[in-house]
Amino acid sequence: MSKDRGSFSHIGFILAAAGSAIGLGNLWKFPYIAYENNGGSFVLIYLLTILIVGFPIMMAEIVIGRATQKSPVSAFLKLGHPAWSGIGWLGIGTGFVILSYYSVVAGWTVHYFLKCMQWSFTEFTPEIANNLGPYFGNFLQNGPMQVGFHLLFIIFSMSVVIFGINKGIERLARILMPVLFLILVGLLVNSFFTPGFKPAMQFLFRMNKITADGILEAAGHAFFSLSLGMGAIITYGSYMNKKESIPKAAGLVCIMDTLIALVACFIMCSIIFSVSEAERASEFSQSMVIMFTTLPKMFYNLPAGQIFAPLFFLLVSFAALTSTISLLEVVVAFFIDHLKWDRIKSTLLAGLLIFGTGVLAALSLGANGPLSKLNPFGGRSEGVFDTLDYLASNWFLPVGGIFISLFVGWIMDKKLKKMEMETGHGPVKYYKFWIFLLRFICPAAVGWIIYAVIFMGKTFN
Ligand code: TRP
Repeated sequence: MSKDRGSFSHIGFILAAAGSAIGLGNLWKFPYIAYENNGGSFVLIYLLTILIVGFPIMMAEIVIGRATQKSPVSAFLKLGHPAWSGIGWLGIGTGFVILSYYSVVAGWTVHYFLKCMQWSFTEFTPEIANNLGPYFGNFLQNGPMQVGFHLLFIIFSMSVVIFGINKGIERLARILMPVLFLILVGLLVNSFFTPGFKPAMQFLFRMNKITADGILEAAGHAFFSLSLGMGAIITYGSYMNKKESIPKAAGLVCIMDTLIALVACFIMCSIIFSVSEAERASEFSQSMVIMFTTLPKMFYNLPAGQIFAPLFFLLVSFAALTSTISLLEVVVAFFIDHLKWDRIKSTLLAGLLIFGTGVLAALSLGANGPLSKLNPFGGRSEGVFDTLDYLASNWFLPVGGIFISLFVGWIMDKKLKKMEMETGHGPVKYYKFWIFLLRFICPAAVGWIIYAVIFMGKTFN
């Protein structure tokens, strides 16, 4: 093993993988796409995908990583299947794409942390409260601010990854994850008492019409939320301790990630449904911006809001950070394993490249006209930021996921995969069923969804 690799200590993997999984996808994106897709069936399909597709593929990724102790491209080479290392290459590209826009949103959370600190120390006047929407709008259109905070976040991520697995990634996750859980529970309890809680529940748990595009978005988001389909979990798996049980670790990560996504959804939807219908229709009190417009207002109406508002944004930034480091680590580990560079050089170069692509995303939210209007997929996405997200979550991750599933199901050496699943666990009761899911069900489910989107454009009841 090269000296720059390192490995996780006991439960270090679970913390780091949960840190990777739990991020803006749970706290910011899931609530707004669930709302935009009319809740109900969308949430149900999301949950089903996690269970039937996400959980088995997460185990498959860990098996590949831990069996080879390599990052994706080198892992497939080491297993003797060079053609399949295409999955690794796709993953590196996807990591770039996701990180470029993800760190822009992560930058917003840092900005709002600082802003809330300022409001808490001076005063959160009604004037400020009533203008949060336009404030956010102006912020999006401010190019230097967008690029600056994006850069800041890339620097944060680099400064963790540069310290490596134990002193960087694991240490951070160990401190931050428990604090995040606590604050979310606090917010959840608070949302029980809002008038919007009941309608939010009715909205989230019902059956309604859904389009093939909606199903693809739900399934794609399941991959995104669990950090699957691009080798991030293969990479983390390569640092996993051999004493750890793969089914247990994967199960725990899936459960934690799903619970947090649901809790975030309860919190945000309760807020959405607490405002009047007229206000809900306005651009700035719904969907993707609610975390930055309505949520601060709500905090400052609560007792001790001065403390909770900045604390909340601080934690969202931390959740984002434990995710961005996993994305960056995929690229860095590739440089280390495949090109044999050292960690410092790898981190610096990867960070610089990602900063560059991210600038395009950062400027595409109003700061730059053409970048904001780019629309290559006929209305399915608008602007660079949105298009990168659409491509990565709805296409690259599910496609990468299918191939990972097929590889472990059909191609990977039988003895090796069985042994790896049993290492640290003992005989796995559902082993055959797992292989069955990987061979047939996961690829068929995802393949069918993709087929429906391309050829049918259908609405399902
Ligand atoms: N899962 C993270 C979230 O929900 C985002 C993320 C981190 C990710 N690493 C990933 C998504 C790898 C896909 C692949 O916010």
